[in-house]
Amino acid sequence: MKKLFIVANWKSHKTEQEAKDWFAALQSFDYSEAGLDHKEIIVCPPLPLLYTLKSLITTQNTQNLPLRIGSQNISPFDDGAYTGEVSANMLKDAASYVIIGHSERRNYFAENDELLSQKVEQAVAQDITPIFCVQGKDTPVPKQASFIAYEPVFAIGSGTPDTPESAESVAAFFKEQAHTQQVIYGGSVKPENVNAFTQMPHIDGVLPGGASLDAASFYQIIVNA
Ligand code: PGA
Repeated sequence: MKKLFIVANWKSHKTEQEAKDWFAALQSFDYSEAGLDHKEIIVCPPLPLLYTLKSLITTQNTQNLPLRIGSQNISPFDDGAYTGEVSANMLKDAASYVIIGHSERRNYFAENDELLSQKVEQAVAQDITPIFCVQGKDTPVPKQASFIAYEPVFAIGSGTPDTPESAESVAAFFKEQAHTQQVIYGGSVKPENVNAFTQMPHIDGVLPGGASLDAASFYQIIVNA
């Protein structure tokens, strides 16, 4: 059975207490039918909560869930005089993954292809796997990015996901390029529609935003995937 990646993108949500409550709730559910032997759960909290999450996973993961941490951002530069930035070197002790190229960062923070390539390079140099977001088949993908998230802009936060068939065709397109190993789908993923995506042969998981904020709905996504 293929390995599925279930990636929670919390975006700019949750205080430390809310993160702790979410984590405790996630631990309270029954995973006996969840198929966790072939699933990896990646939580991407806001930057100030990375080490809170790390400590929760180290000390409170009573169900031994296959949890990893992802960052939602990374500096395009090494350590140095870059006020406000968090370097790959600082992230690597907590984060195994980093989301790069999300349309919200392209649109609200003017991140362009060149900057995104630099971020990918920084991540890879510290063994952090970039989850590189593409908005369609024409989005350029840096060579070192082998894990792709297809996130069509119309589907993000809209309640209207892409069709599983269309997402499958985009996933297959990127997988024809030799360096792509995983493609996941994001954009209005919910417990009710997740399985239609993960059933597709070229889709390796999902990236829910809104539906990951509530522990019960995220749990249902994990189970239904
Ligand atoms: P959504 O966001 O699930 O709230 O649509 C997905 C994303 O932007 O990663």
